[in-house]
Amino acid sequence: MDIRQVVITSAGAPERLRLQTSRLDPPAPGEAQVEVVAAGINFADILARQGLYPDAPPLPLVVGYEVSGTVRAVGTGVEESLVGQDVLALTRFGGYSSALNVPVAQVFAKPEVLSHAEAASIPVAYLTAWQLLVVQGGLREGDTVLIQNAGSGVGLAALDIARHVGARSIGTASAGKHDFLTARGLDHAVDYRGGDWTREVRALTDDRGVELVIDPLGGESFRRSRSVLGSTGRLGMYGVSAASSNQGLRGKLQLARTAALMPLFHPVSLMNANQGAFGVNLGHMWGEVDRLRRWMEQVLEGVESGWVRPHVDSSYPLADAGRAHEHIEARRSTGKVVLEP
Ligand SMILES: NC(=O)c1ccc[n+]([C@@H]2O[C@H](COP(=O)([O-])OP(=O)(O)OC[C@H]3O[C@@H](n4cnc5c(N)ncnc54)[C@H](OP(=O)(O)O)[C@@H]3O)[C@@H](O)[C@H]2O)c1
Repeated sequence: MDIRQVVITSAGAPERLRLQTSRLDPPAPGEAQVEVVAAGINFADILARQGLYPDAPPLPLVVGYEVSGTVRAVGTGVEESLVGQDVLALTRFGGYSSALNVPVAQVFAKPEVLSHAEAASIPVAYLTAWQLLVVQGGLREGDTVLIQNAGSGVGLAALDIARHVGARSIGTASAGKHDFLTARGLDHAVDYRGGDWTREVRALTDDRGVELVIDPLGGESFRRSRSVLGSTGRLGMYGVSAASSNQGLRGKLQLARTAALMPLFHPVSLMNANQGAFGVNLGHMWGEVDRLRRWMEQVLEGVESGWVRPHVDSSYPLADAGRAHEHIEARRSTGKVVLEP
C-alpha cells in the first residue's frame, strides 16, 4: 500500500522535513496496521531533526512516537475484532505517516470522549509525567512539586497528575503562558526566562523548598532545580531542551555546552541533604512495554474520570510538519501540537 510520510532527509532547519510517498507492507505477525488520523509531535522529534538526538536511528528517518487512528488490518496472532476500531498507539519512530504497522502491545482503545488529536496527545506526555511524578517521584497529597517548562506537553500532563494526587503545583514557563496555566489549575506560575526564579520558588515555600522538581531543560538548570529542593526532596531529570536553539555545528556546540554545565551530584552531598536525584527516559523503556501498559491503563481511567485533559495547541497537515516544528521552536505552543494526515 502507498502511504505518505514526513522524512528527515538530512539534519538541519525545518525545511529539511520532506513529504514523500513510500510503500507499507502488510502487518507482520503480532502487529496492527493503523490508518493515522493524528500524530503527536514531541520535542525529541525537533532534536532529531536538528541532529541532536542521540537515540535517533540513522537518516533518512521518519520520527513520531505516538498516533491515533483506525485499525485497518492485523497480522497473524492478533484478534480480527480489532479491525475497524479506533485506537491510540505508541510508535518507536514512524508516527509522521498516513499509516503504519505497530506491535499490538503498544496499541490501546481510544476513549470515545476524545478526538483523535486529543488521543494522539496522550501517550508520550502522560506516560513520561506518570513515570516522573508517580513511579519515581513518589509525589503525595500535600507535597509541593515544581514543574519546569509547565506549558509543554509533558508539563501540562504533569499538572493534571499533580492535581489528581492532591499536590500543590509551581510551574515555570514563558510569561505569556502564565494566564493559561493558572486557568488550568496551576497554583503558582513563575517566569524562568528573566532573573533568578529560584528566589521566587523558595519564597513560595517559606524557604522550606519543594518535595519534587521535574526538569527537562538540562545543563545549568539541573543545578538551580536542585537548589530549591527541601529535605527529602527529589529531582527528576528528563531532557536537554536548553541545547536545542541551533542546528549544525552551532547546535552541537550548544549541546556540548549544556552537557558541560550539568552538575555532579556527590552521593555524600545527597545523603547529608536527605535528597534524591533520578533520571527518566521513556524511550529506554521499550523492553518493558507491559509496565507502560499498566501505567497507560491508569492514565486512560483518568480520561474516563475527567482528570486527564489532553490539550491540543494546534494541528497541521503532514505537508506542513516544518511549520509545526517552527511553531514549537518559537516557543509559541502550549500543550501538544499534532499532525493530521
Ligand atoms: N526523557 C523522556 O522520556 C522525555 C519524554 C518526553 C519529553 N521529554 C523532554 O521534555 C521536554 C518537553 O517535551 P515536550 O515534547 O512536552 O515539549 P513541547 O510541548 O514541544 O514543549 C515546547 C516548550 O518547551 C519550552 N522550551 C524550553 N526550552 C526551549 C528551547 N530552547 N527552545 C524551544 N522551546 C523551549 C517552551 O516553553 P516556554 O516558552 O514556556 O519556555 C516551548 O513552548 C523536552 O526537553 C523533551 O525532550 C523527555
